[in-house]
Amino acid sequence: MINSFTTAIVRLPSPEMVNGLTSANLGRPDYTLALIQHQRYISALETCGLTVKVLEANNRYPDSVFIEDVALCTPACAVITNPGAASRKGETEGMKVVLSAYYQNIEHIQNPGTLEAGDVMMVGSHYYIGLSDRTNRQGADQLIQILRRYGMSGSAVPLKDVLHLKTGVSYLENNSLLVSGEFIDLPEFKKFKRIVVPANEAYAANSLWINGTVLVPEGFPETRANIETAGYTVLEVDLSEFRKLDGGLSCLSLRLPV
Ligand code: GLY
Repeated sequence: MINSFTTAIVRLPSPEMVNGLTSANLGRPDYTLALIQHQRYISALETCGLTVKVLEANNRYPDSVFIEDVALCTPACAVITNPGAASRKGETEGMKVVLSAYYQNIEHIQNPGTLEAGDVMMVGSHYYIGLSDRTNRQGADQLIQILRRYGMSGSAVPLKDVLHLKTGVSYLENNSLLVSGEFIDLPEFKKFKRIVVPANEAYAANSLWINGTVLVPEGFPETRANIETAGYTVLEVDLSEFRKLDGGLSCLSLRLPV
């Protein structure tokens, strides 16, 4: 089963983004350049056939541009998460109203469970859930229970080095995984065809399959070539200002699968 997408939801960057969480050591983001890059990101999603709903910036939450973390969108339901980062918890406010335009079924992750959807990777009707500093066991278990109620499944993957699961691994459909670092030899992922991201290009492990095209961050030529050799059409997107906040291609949107 190959998922496809019709709609994406993004949130404009706030000027406050310069105060976002980061471990990257790449300097302070340039807000003006971030706005330009965000607009190009939206254009790339549209090139892949998506209708993009653009939410206004939320100045109360510096990391709110990374909207992927606050909801999981499945074909059957949306799940509003409970971010593990204290400064991000309020980012879920208003998401129920936004998602109600697309979903009849909206579920919630609740305390003491925490979950950020950057830790959730959809593979058909199965969802891999990274156990990270942001997503705990209770959050993962709650999500697995929700998925089961809708005829889907989930399983937990403990993380060692990365912020979120999809920081280090991306599903490119066709039974293919783009893998880096701790995921290259992970037993759970051995059943997939694996495209290995070299250590010096680890940021590119967060690439994004959308309706047959793979969005790849600009500046990672070996990874780009490996994805093209595997038969995919590639579209590069420059995300330098979001990388400074540990953010990648998937973090900047919710994609609604059908
Ligand atoms: N700056 C993105 C995050 O740490 O969640």
